[in-house]
Amino acid sequence: MEFGTFSGGSALFFATVMRQIANPFKVFSVDVEAAQVVEKVRRDPDIALLTLSSTDPLVAARIAPLKTQYPGKIFAILDSDHTRRHVLAEMILLRPLLNAGDYMVVEDSNINGHPVLPLWGAGPYEAVTEYMKQFPSDYTVDREREAKFGFTFAPNGFLIRN
Ligand SMILES: C[S@@+](CC[C@H](N)C(=O)[O-])C[C@H]1O[C@@H](n2cnc3c(N)ncnc32)[C@H](O)[C@@H]1O
Repeated sequence: MEFGTFSGGSALFFATVMRQIANPFKVFSVDVEAAQVVEKVRRDPDIALLTLSSTDPLVAARIAPLKTQYPGKIFAILDSDHTRRHVLAEMILLRPLLNAGDYMVVEDSNINGHPVLPLWGAGPYEAVTEYMKQFPSDYTVDREREAKFGFTFAPNGFLIRN
């Protein structure tokens, strides 16, 4: 489940990996803008695209039947509008939809001085901090994966749903 498709590069990557390791599956990718999505991604039978803001309640309505159709674990990646307000709203939208053992990556929490782009303004890092304040038991930060390569674009952003 991906918020922020852009041209579909990451959606295609996830589908390509999943084709090697699991079936059946669906990559569900949401973007407010569809024009950049390349033809190969549009035609991929394992990728479902939705053109809407990722915080629209209709996104949750679309995810619910997908969960029934594909009852396995969910990997969610938030890579759309990197403002605190928007990322927090995405996390809250996904709250009733993720279950124990599902996984979330909040992308680009390194901005706003964590440690890059110090003048960005409150972003994904601050969204995670606020979410954890509101719902402290929902996620465990996966420090092992975060530290795996000694460098990350997602500090505090690798989250295992409890
Ligand atoms: C960083 S790009 C995504 C890149 C893509 N995940 C990849 O790695 O190939 C961010 C995307 O978020 C989209 N976006 C911005 N605001 C959005 C919103 N409110 N809802 C959904 N998508 C949004 C933009 O249109 C843009 O395509």
